[in-house]
Amino acid sequence: MPTHPGRTPLTIGRLLLCLVAVAGASRASAAGAAGPVTFTRDVAPIFYRECVTCHRPGQAAPMALLTYEQARPWARAIRSRVSDHSMPPWQAEEGHRKVVNERRLSRADIDTIVEWADAGAVEGAPGDLPAAPTFANEWRIGAPVVVYSIQEDVDIPANGNTFIKYFVVPTSFSADRWISALEIRPSDPAHVHHVILYHRAGALGSATPDLDASAMLGSSLAIYGPGSDPMTYPPGTAKRLPAGDSLIFEVHYLPNGRAGRDRTRLGLRLSGAPPTTEIHALSLSNTKLVIPPGAGAYEVKASISYNEPFRILSIMPHAHLRGRDFEYRLVYPNGRSEVILRVSRYDWKWQTAYTFAEPVSVLAQTTIEVVAHYDNSEGNRDNPDPRAEVRWGWQPAQEMMFSYITFVMDAP
Ligand code: HEC
Repeated sequence: MPTHPGRTPLTIGRLLLCLVAVAGASRASAAGAAGPVTFTRDVAPIFYRECVTCHRPGQAAPMALLTYEQARPWARAIRSRVSDHSMPPWQAEEGHRKVVNERRLSRADIDTIVEWADAGAVEGAPGDLPAAPTFANEWRIGAPVVVYSIQEDVDIPANGNTFIKYFVVPTSFSADRWISALEIRPSDPAHVHHVILYHRAGALGSATPDLDASAMLGSSLAIYGPGSDPMTYPPGTAKRLPAGDSLIFEVHYLPNGRAGRDRTRLGLRLSGAPPTTEIHALSLSNTKLVIPPGAGAYEVKASISYNEPFRILSIMPHAHLRGRDFEYRLVYPNGRSEVILRVSRYDWKWQTAYTFAEPVSVLAQTTIEVVAHYDNSEGNRDNPDPRAEVRWGWQPAQEMMFSYITFVMDAP
């Protein structure tokens, strides 16, 4: 180095000193003068923000985390589930288009929880506890205008495999209606792993509908999964429910060691006038998949393109027990491509509609490409049979490769 020999080591030395000082300072703020990390001051605010939508009575999670008494026995399990990023549940990768319903703890939150558990899960001063968040115990969309309910109580045995039931519920509108918000509420959320709600033309009676029609997937109105949020569409947009249609509830029940009984309901809010923008949905699927026995990362693709521009509001990937990951790309007419969403840790237990903070603009002639992988190996703990060749089907032991995409057309 012709200039300032010796400068480099000195700078690095100083930098190291700075880093040590910074590390020391951040420790001091978490556990310094104010004593060890406590539940009431440090941990409860994180749980209230990130966990209790599900971890409170009547919701999908097995225990509440609202009070110290509730949380204390779970300290070790909490430490391990936040450290391996399996809680809060979130399957998408960072770094693509921003999603509004993201559930992810910051590094600082994880460190605080780990430190709390490691230091004996101390309660702290009761006066430090912030006010617990309040939840409307009934509908989160506000008072619905119409409520539809499945017409029977479903008994879920304590043990056994997940099972699916279909319920047809007629609507009785004489004109098309415009849905501005929609919420699916199982009465026993701990036993409902997901609900897919479809609508179909005409009165169907109560017979189980013809379910082989994959086109039906595009007619789904909503999907519910543990912890999923009700759908409230942006102002000026709404989803059409054609006059006289029937609703079909597809409910997946999951035994969990305790018996249960469910009656799932749907609440709708309607907008008086037709909206300026109608929300459409499309289903992008590959029904021809054949997954060989034992395959660890079997690739399945699907794609679609239109001649008119539109904007994607949300994407929900759907596969069963062997689903492993889903990637969504836009391939522009000039050949350039962009990943908009990567669900790198797909998990059938969490049916999530990833809702974009900014609707994703798709120009005419742009292709939406989806690439998914399936794990049919023994390494997949959820795999019911690694020796099976797996094809499309509605049962959990069969597979699906389908994406439910909501969008609006661009103004002409
Ligand atoms: C979207 C809903 C949801 C959110 C948010 C959520 N959980 Fe969970 N949690 C569940 C469900 C459902 C289960 C049971 C299924 C499982 O174990 O994966 C669970 C299980 C757990 C378990 C394991 C319990 C056992 O039986 O061993 C722990 C520990 C846990 N959650 C901690 C947390 C913490 C801490 C947070 C917040 C940082 C959190 N969870 C956020 C839904 C949620």
